[in-house]
Amino acid sequence: NTLIIEISCENLDRGKLNYCGEVLKGGGTVVFPTETVYGLGANAIYEKAVEKIFKAKGRPSDNPLIVHVTGEEDVIPLVKAIPPKAKEVMDAFWPGPLTIIMEKSSRVPYNVTAGLNTVAIRYPAHPIAKALIEAAGVPIAAPSANISGKPSPTKASHVIDDLDGRVDVIIAGGDCSVGLESTVLDMTTDIPTILRPGGVTKEELEGVLGRVEMDPSLLTGVLDISPKSPGMKYTHYSPKAEVVVYAGEDESVVKAISNKANELMANGKEVGIICTNETQHRYKKGIIKPLGSKKDMKTIAAKLFSTLREFDETKVDIILAEALEEVELGQAIMNRLVKAAGYKIYRV
Ligand code: TXA
Ligand code: MG
Repeated sequence: NTLIIEISCENLDRGKLNYCGEVLKGGGTVVFPTETVYGLGANAIYEKAVEKIFKAKGRPSDNPLIVHVTGEEDVIPLVKAIPPKAKEVMDAFWPGPLTIIMEKSSRVPYNVTAGLNTVAIRYPAHPIAKALIEAAGVPIAAPSANISGKPSPTKASHVIDDLDGRVDVIIAGGDCSVGLESTVLDMTTDIPTILRPGGVTKEELEGVLGRVEMDPSLLTGVLDISPKSPGMKYTHYSPKAEVVVYAGEDESVVKAISNKANELMANGKEVGIICTNETQHRYKKGIIKPLGSKKDMKTIAAKLFSTLREFDETKVDIILAEALEEVELGQAIMNRLVKAAGYKIYRV
C-alpha cells in the first residue's frame, strides 16, 4: 500500500517531511519531486533499501543510481577524494541539474553503483527534495521515478500512474520545472566527459571547465559503441505509440511530416504530431501538440516528457516529431527524443 502525501513548495510541511525522512532512514522507499524529474528514493547506504528501488521500477541491476545529497560536505564520506575541478563545478552549478561522477568510497554499497568503483552524486535544488534529504539525514539513492523504459515523470500524476502500490510513499509536490534529467558529468577522466546531456548544458560547463567532451556514444547515436553510462544502452522514454523524428529545414520537415500524416491517415491510422509554436499552424490533420517556441528551449524541455505521456491517453498509432537544433538545451532534448524514437530519425 502506497501512502500519497501532498506537500507544497511554498509551505513546506515539516511534520510530513520528517515522517517521510523517517521512512527513508528506516529502509523504505519515497518518491519525491526534484527540479529535473521525480525521483524514487531510498537510503543510499543501506543495501537492502537500495534493492527495493530496482524492484519497484523493474530496473536492470547493471544500471547504477544517482546519490542525492544537500551539500559538498555530504560528498566527502562517499568518495575517495573530490578532484579540484569537480569542486569548481559543484560551486558553479549546485544545487541544480548536474550529477558528478567520482571515485567511490567503501561507504557506498556496490548495488548503488552496479558494481562500478565510481559513484554519481547530485545536490538537487528543489525545496522539497532538499528538505526531505535533510530530514532523512542520510544520502538518498534515486533514479527517475518511472517504470523502466517509460518517459521520466515530471508530474505527480505520472508517478501515481507508474508506481502506486510499488513504493511506500509518494510525495505529490507539483510539476518539475526543468523537465529533463540532470546532466551526468564524468570527472574521473582527464578531460571531463558528459555521459548524459541534461539541464546544465555543455556550453555552461565549458564556461567553468574549459574543454569538455561528449561520450562518443552520444555523438553517433550508434548503439554498438558501448556507452560508459550503463543506463544509456536501454530503450528509454518510450510512449506506447511508435515515434519517428524528422530533421531538416522547417519547410521540408513540415512537408515531409504532413505528407506522411496524410498517407497514414488514408490508411486508417491515428497520427500524433510533435512540433513547435512556430510550425503548429502549418499542420491540418492529426493530433497536433506544440512543445513551445523554438526561442524558448526551456519550455520545450519542460513539456517533452509530459507530452509523450499525453499521447498514451490518445489512441495514436504513430507520433511524427520535428527535430530541434542540437545546441545548448537542444542537445538534451534531442537526446531524449531520438531515444524515444528508438533512433528512427529521417533527414529530409
Ligand atoms: O535528474 C536526474 O538525474 C534524476 C533525478 C531524480 O535526480 N535522476 C535520474 O536517475 O535521472 P536515473 O537513474 O534515471 O539516471 C541515472 C543515469 C543513468 O544513465 C546511469 O547509468 C548513470 O546516471 N550513472 C549512474 N551512476 C553512474 C556511474 N557511476 N558511472 C556512469 N554512469 C552512471
Ligand atoms: Mg531514468
